[in-house]
Amino acid sequence: MWYSSIIETVGNTPLVKLNTFHKEQPGTVLAKVEYFNPGHSVKDRIALKMIEDAEKAGKLKPGGTIIEGTSGNTGMGLALVAAVKGYKCIFTTTDKQSMEKVNLLRALGCEVQICPTNVEPEDPRSYYSIAKRLSEEIPNSFYPDQYNNLSNRQSHYETTGPELWDQTDGKITHFVAGIGTGGTITGAAQYLKEKNPDIRIIGIDSVGSIFKSYFETGVFDKRHIAPYMTEGIGEDIIPENVDFSLIDDIIQCPDREAFLTTRKLARREGLFVGGSCGSAVWGALQHIKKNPLKPDDIMVILLPDSGTRYVSKFYNDEWMRTNGFLEEEHRPDVEEVIELRSDGVRKLITVDRDETLGEAIELMNRHNISQLPVISGSDIVGSLTETKILGLLTKSTDARHKKVGTVMDEPFPTVAMDLKIDQITRMLSGGLAAVMVRLDDGRHTIVTRSDLINTLSKASDLSRE
Ligand SMILES: Cc1ncc(COP(=O)(O)O)c(C=O)c1O
Repeated sequence: MWYSSIIETVGNTPLVKLNTFHKEQPGTVLAKVEYFNPGHSVKDRIALKMIEDAEKAGKLKPGGTIIEGTSGNTGMGLALVAAVKGYKCIFTTTDKQSMEKVNLLRALGCEVQICPTNVEPEDPRSYYSIAKRLSEEIPNSFYPDQYNNLSNRQSHYETTGPELWDQTDGKITHFVAGIGTGGTITGAAQYLKEKNPDIRIIGIDSVGSIFKSYFETGVFDKRHIAPYMTEGIGEDIIPENVDFSLIDDIIQCPDREAFLTTRKLARREGLFVGGSCGSAVWGALQHIKKNPLKPDDIMVILLPDSGTRYVSKFYNDEWMRTNGFLEEEHRPDVEEVIELRSDGVRKLITVDRDETLGEAIELMNRHNISQLPVISGSDIVGSLTETKILGLLTKSTDARHKKVGTVMDEPFPTVAMDLKIDQITRMLSGGLAAVMVRLDDGRHTIVTRSDLINTLSKASDLSRE
């Protein structure tokens, strides 16, 4: 058995149970994994339908050019279908999108123009405006316009909806999907509600997008629009493909939760998916918290795309840290080292440069310490360690009569209160025995290896609590 072209492999994506996100609770939560499509996203479905409808309507003729404003996934779908059918493609996208997506489109032979993100949709520089203008200027071109072309939602009415119904034997009770153009949620919801009007439809939006406030108030209030980083969901326009009357609840997901949940999907479920998949799963779980599933309920969450396009973004720890999405593991600083030790800002034991080595040894024994700062008046002028003393005594036992000032080493370096423990550890892992810390009141205290050991073992107990 074989397919007559790659186009025939679009759709019929699998349902996969989520095992770690909804554990030991009533009901079943399944993912519809759209990266099984040949272009690795849900958008292959609409690409095929928009092109085939345009051909039927005579809007796209052989040798024609397809022009679209796309964040990448729709472009990929259009590019595949265009390759098989022999059309050219020009895409406009925003500088918010990952370079992986842009490079993929270029790999398929498409032209990609990158436009600024932070301009109004009506601005002539926006990716909507440029796609529209090009489609007017270039002869025999077709502008699919995924936002307002109703073939988009129709494709989900004809494919996604029936698949969801058939794959669950008509037992699906909840459908969760991100809202970008609104095609997925609207088309699938229309089919499902025709089959069973009680099926709950939950839309997932991004914090910073207009959909949730518009859904709840019916008012388009620009004050709800703010920049965000999750790709594919949320908008600053209301596309014609969204039909809010089919949606029962909309949940907004912040970028941080979207990315952290996406990483968990990869690491805990082996589902290497895109960032809006994390939004959808996080949002679904929020919905369940407020409206627990019943034992026979089946919730399906649609996961629109694959993680391969985002490896340099939220799958990269450095990128996550730079954007403040990864909690730094807590690393104590000098101040905490001092706070955590039993004697706090202990009285600094010092030896005067004019005292003898014998007196220094007696002082160290009395206080059970291994090193001493050496002073002259109120100044710290040097240091003395067990290792140094051992070396001197090995050479000559008479060394104990020598003045400390004649045999001492350089003073221990002074460090700032906010220096992290990792850096002090590095300093003390060589020959250095201790560091000095200057306190706010001008006094000094000493921090030694045993202080670091003590702090790190206590800090690990604290973080386990
Ligand atoms: C990654 C991703 N997630 C979700 C969506 C939302 O799907 P729809 O446009 O059908 O609302 C899109 C659409 O661009 C997408 O690319």
